[in-house]
Amino acid sequence: MVNPPEPFPDLDWSPERARALGDAALEMYEEWLRRLPDLPVDRGRNAAEVSEAVHLDVPAEGLRDEELLEYLRKLVFDYSMFPGHPGFLAYIVGGGTVPGAIADLVAAGINQNVGGWRLSPGATEIELHVVRFFAEQFGLPDEAGGMLVSGGSIANFIGLKAARDAKSGAGVRARGLNGRPQLVAYTSQEVHFATTRAADMIGIGTDNVRLIEIDDQYRMDLVALETRIDEDLTAGLRPFCIVASLGTVATGAIDPLEPIADLCARHGLWLHVDAAYGGPIVLSEDLRGLAAGVERADSIAFDPHKWLYTPQSGGCILVRDIAHLAESFSADAGYVYEDKELTGRGIDLGMLGPQLSRSFWALKVWVSLLAHGTDAYGRRIAHDVALTRYLADRIEASDRFELAAPVGLSICCFRYAPPDLPNGGGREEYLDLLNERIMAAVQMDGRVYYSNAILGERFVLRTCIVNFRTEAEHLDQVLEVTEELGAKLDAELRPTHF
Ligand SMILES: Cc1ncc(COP(=O)(O)O)c(C=O)c1O
Repeated sequence: MVNPPEPFPDLDWSPERARALGDAALEMYEEWLRRLPDLPVDRGRNAAEVSEAVHLDVPAEGLRDEELLEYLRKLVFDYSMFPGHPGFLAYIVGGGTVPGAIADLVAAGINQNVGGWRLSPGATEIELHVVRFFAEQFGLPDEAGGMLVSGGSIANFIGLKAARDAKSGAGVRARGLNGRPQLVAYTSQEVHFATTRAADMIGIGTDNVRLIEIDDQYRMDLVALETRIDEDLTAGLRPFCIVASLGTVATGAIDPLEPIADLCARHGLWLHVDAAYGGPIVLSEDLRGLAAGVERADSIAFDPHKWLYTPQSGGCILVRDIAHLAESFSADAGYVYEDKELTGRGIDLGMLGPQLSRSFWALKVWVSLLAHGTDAYGRRIAHDVALTRYLADRIEASDRFELAAPVGLSICCFRYAPPDLPNGGGREEYLDLLNERIMAAVQMDGRVYYSNAILGERFVLRTCIVNFRTEAEHLDQVLEVTEELGAKLDAELRPTHF
């Protein structure tokens, strides 16, 4: 006689518990949304303080729900910073749509593994629809496809891996790059480091990414690009890919996509477009024209979690021909065997990219698109650009701020420069120091929050609006806070010789 183990009652997964915890969590989310404009963007705490506050010893007996909720409340209100705050203008981090957050709760609840169709039927088909929708928006052909990924870095990696495998000759996945001509990629000096990191990950080496000079609009210089390709060909190297940016991270510049696509066609190169930031302009009537040429790309990386405002995290890779993803990432093993003729099941997205188990990232993107619609999205993206021009106009009209670069999409780079500062005598170096200190002070202050760029060799302040809660009043506040803290720091730091 074999005695079965008794049922195990101690992990409470009851619907009642889900309801009680869920109601309390939603109330907290609602309160947070209501209070968000009045909370500091960040509390300026240091790592030791935060680490100590959020640490708990994992208990042998689980916490009560009230204790858990109190702990989460402390995390939310006291030890988090808020990219969704209307005064958050740093880096490129979207505001986080409300329907997207609720969709994430549902996605986590039903716990789909979107690596295999059979583990995620509806989720996989939704992801394929999301990808189809984006491919159409970018003007890619019917055979285009792709998938959602964790973010722009992985999307760029997948694009470059597909380029490497398509352009380096048969057998590269099995035998590697040894014995083949050195592969070389081209991109601008302004490219995000995701591209150079991807070059490392695909094994071509970061030294074999040519960082091409830029013009006065921070776009890749075509003459320098073509010259460099010719030099490399003459040296017996193997140019294989150009990475163009549709919205650079520092200034929002758009590389000249049409002539770059022509160059790729002439030399048989793969065109990868890093549209992680700027891609969503294709949803805007007014801005779409700026992306002309993107439809000729072999692959496009872009990030719903940036300018489609969806919650972290979720990026997207699109390839002109979905077959390239299978060629680059297909895998097989007995333990994932399935005869699809027999089952009628669909595509296993885990076989088309580097990750097998995959989250249902697509749901928050899909639900956000369904909830808001393309018109509102397009208009809000154009509004972000208009707000940025407003900030730039105010900067240009002021005698204590300098515009540091042409406004690209929704990015504005500027400096605080006190009007009584004489020219020469180390002015530029002093402004670097002053603006660096201003950025740190603004970030610790918490009323608004922005980051920086290094343009040429100069340290400049940088705002980027990918936040549907930001309006003109918050940009006015950016200038007020910068001027207030700038004047104070200038009084402390200015060398006596000025
Ligand atoms: C142009 C560009 N490419 C790639 C990335 C990397 O994206 P992620 O942070 O989602 O990995 C960024 C991030 O800001 C970016 O701006």
